[in-house]
Amino acid sequence: MLRHSPRPAFPQVLAGASLEVPRGSFHMLLGANGCGKSTLLRVMAGLFHPDAGSIRVDAPCGFVFQNPDHQVVMPSVGADVAFGLGRYSLNPAAVQAVVRDSLARVGLQAFAERPTSSLSGGQKQRVAIAGALAECPRVLLLDELTTFLDFEDQENVLQCVRRIAGGVTALWVTHRLEELQYADSVR
Ligand SMILES: Nc1ncnc2c1ncn2[C@@H]1O[C@H](COP(=O)(O)OP(=O)(O)OP(=O)(O)O)[C@@H](O)[C@H]1O
Ligand SMILES: [Mg+2]
Repeated sequence: MLRHSPRPAFPQVLAGASLEVPRGSFHMLLGANGCGKSTLLRVMAGLFHPDAGSIRVDAPCGFVFQNPDHQVVMPSVGADVAFGLGRYSLNPAAVQAVVRDSLARVGLQAFAERPTSSLSGGQKQRVAIAGALAECPRVLLLDELTTFLDFEDQENVLQCVRRIAGGVTALWVTHRLEELQYADSVR
C-alpha cells in the first residue's frame, strides 16, 4: 500500500524583509548567495506571491535576468527588442521607432540588424535591458547582470544602467562590492 507523506514545509526566505527604494534612483541590493535577493525581486515583479506582508511597486515593472541567454531569444537584435511589443497594437513604424529609441538608450543604436549570436555577454545584457525599456517601465529589476561578464562588459552594463536611471527606478542586485560605487543608494 502506498503511503503519502505530508507536503514538505518550505523554509521562510524573506521573513522580516523591508525595503524602500527612492523613485528614479539607481539602488543596489547587496547580499550573500542564497540570502533571498532573487526571491525578493520575483515577489516585487509579481512572479511569486508572499504569504504575508505588503508590497508596492510602480507599474509597469521590467525584469532583467542573470543569464541573457534566457532572455535574448530572437535571431536579430532589433527583433529581440521588438519581441515584447507584440502584445500592443502598434504599427510597424511605431515598433521600429521604439526599437531605435530603446537601443539608443543602451548605446547600441547601430546594432538593430546584428545577429544576437554575434554579441558579447555585455552587449547581450544591454539588448535584454533595451527589450525591457521598450515597454516603458517605471521600475527595472536587474538580477546579477554581470555574473558572466568580463571587467569591460561589466563596466559597460553598469554605466548603461547608470545613464538610464532617473527616468526609471533601477533596483540592481549584486554580491560584487566593486559595483556599489555606481549606485545612488545601497542596502
Ligand atoms: N522555488 C523555490 N522553492 C524553494 N526554495 C527556493 C526556491 N527558490 C529559492 N529558494 C530558496 O530560497 C533561498 C533564497 O534563494 P534566492 O535564489 O532568492 O537567493 P539569492 O540571494 O538570489 O542567491 P544567489 O546570490 O545565489 O543568486 C535559498 O535558500 C533557495 O534555496
Ligand atoms: Mg539570485
